[in-house]
Amino acid sequence: MKQISERIFYCGILNPNLRVFDVVMRTDFGTSYNAYVVKGSGATAIIDAAHYSFSGLFLEELREALGGRQPDYLVVNHTEPDHSGAIAAMLEVWPGLTVVTNGVAAKYLRQMLSRDFSPRIVKDGDTLPLGDCGLRFLIAPFLHWPDSMMTWLPEEGTLFSCDVFGCHYCEQGVTDANVTYERDYQAAFRYYYDCIFGPFRPFVQKGLQKLESLDLQRICPSHGPVLTRGCKLESALDAYQQWSAPVEKADTTPQVPVFYCSAYGNTARIGRAVREGILEARPGAACALHDLTGCNMPAMGALLNQSDAFALGCLTINRDAVPPLWALLSHADAVNMPKRPCALFGSYGWSGEAFANIAARLQMLKCNVFEEQFRVNFVPSGEELAQARAFGRRFAERLP
Ligand code: FEO
Repeated sequence: MKQISERIFYCGILNPNLRVFDVVMRTDFGTSYNAYVVKGSGATAIIDAAHYSFSGLFLEELREALGGRQPDYLVVNHTEPDHSGAIAAMLEVWPGLTVVTNGVAAKYLRQMLSRDFSPRIVKDGDTLPLGDCGLRFLIAPFLHWPDSMMTWLPEEGTLFSCDVFGCHYCEQGVTDANVTYERDYQAAFRYYYDCIFGPFRPFVQKGLQKLESLDLQRICPSHGPVLTRGCKLESALDAYQQWSAPVEKADTTPQVPVFYCSAYGNTARIGRAVREGILEARPGAACALHDLTGCNMPAMGALLNQSDAFALGCLTINRDAVPPLWALLSHADAVNMPKRPCALFGSYGWSGEAFANIAARLQMLKCNVFEEQFRVNFVPSGEELAQARAFGRRFAERLP
């Protein structure tokens, strides 16, 4: 247990050995599941919980932080199971604990807990008195789930920010002044923003606007170090402001990357021809070819998300698109992908299911999928390569 301020105590769990989070995120520096106790003169609130696999240890940390007090409230800022997993165990110990959360989170929590509980539903700006201090709730949808909210404790100048301003970085010291490996922390902070909040830039901006009137002295996120004024708090705010700012495209060059996977070079050759066709119709376009095999996939994902349109060369193995194609689309920014023009091409051997499977995924992302697909059985002839160029040209002529 660590005391953060007069009324705030840390009761989170450190998990330094975690190397993959939620299947898709690298966690080279481990993580922490942060939770806090706020002790008012009249009532005690717990802010968030921990991953279910640490329920026993979390209860120990929590009891120590409570220091003999009975908790009155559990504030649930967000129901993703890395924070809500231990709630079931908490309600076993304290069945009278009042869960304080928003309506969306209460619905999710009911599904997760498989047990009855009586939540106190709060709306944006609602308050919860704790005696000589009180909590105010700031609903922050899509930061990063529909249920996300933040909790403000004005008497301590402290924002319990949920995942916002967090990162997967783990050290014994709870606060930013104790960060030993600055470069690693900064890398983890940026990577976390890119993975978790990058797709939600407009929502990040709205969330930041809600913080403008607050006298922020301390930010207690759900992962990673507590940020304090005079140390990392200001730079974290600046970074989020900068990273989420609307992109002013000084360069109006259309970005039309061509991605492909190719086992024997046939789809690659078609890709080169498609690119030539695109450039015939749009000579000023930035239209680079990118082989997805063995590539830096987050970088490819960034190119995909920054594109104005794209073409994708499909390779089928075992009646499906190959993993790098799926990996690329797993990086697609689902919020901003709708209406993005795209076209599919490639060589296939037996039946070519990759085309239909990838097209279905692109349609789910609400992309504007070019109604033609350019498919060649096995090796493209010279005539087929000319047709591929014409296909690329027709696709590019349709671009806005
Ligand atoms: Fe750390 Fe969105 O849970």
